[in-house]
Amino acid sequence: MHLKRRQILTYAAGFAGTVPFAAFGQNAPSIHVLKDPNCGCCRVWIDILRQEGFRVTEERSLGTQLIRHKLDNGIPEEMISCHTGEIDGYMIEGHVPVADIRRLLEERPNAIGLAVPGMPYGSPGMGPEDRREAYDVFLILRDRSTEVFTSYEAA
Ligand code: CU
Ligand code: CU
Repeated sequence: MHLKRRQILTYAAGFAGTVPFAAFGQNAPSIHVLKDPNCGCCRVWIDILRQEGFRVTEERSLGTQLIRHKLDNGIPEEMISCHTGEIDGYMIEGHVPVADIRRLLEERPNAIGLAVPGMPYGSPGMGPEDRREAYDVFLILRDRSTEVFTSYEAA
């Protein structure tokens, strides 16, 4: 399913206050996302999070400023993607699926956060899931080493 931006916004509006918020009750998680305002894939990822009941605040950042923000907050260079989120003390780098963010918040490992390096095709915000390439979500540990958190197979 490949939705146009307008359709996604319509979906988001339709869902707000119903299913996703019910799933979280009063505790809709808040995520703050730094992103290049001209980058469309981050926009789609944010729309997906909103559909899933997250409260998203956005901050403009780009180029070396955005990369510095990532590195200063413990994201290793090889884990870098486009946008960078922060939720409940964890960093979320790139097109991380909602299911992994939820699992992170439930399990609360002693870690910096999650990353999907690069921009794998078919990850959330990066094109249709039914045509996705295989990719891994990594857990970034406090010493900045990484381990695989979830492996997604090619569709
Ligand atoms: Cu992207
Ligand atoms: Cu982007």
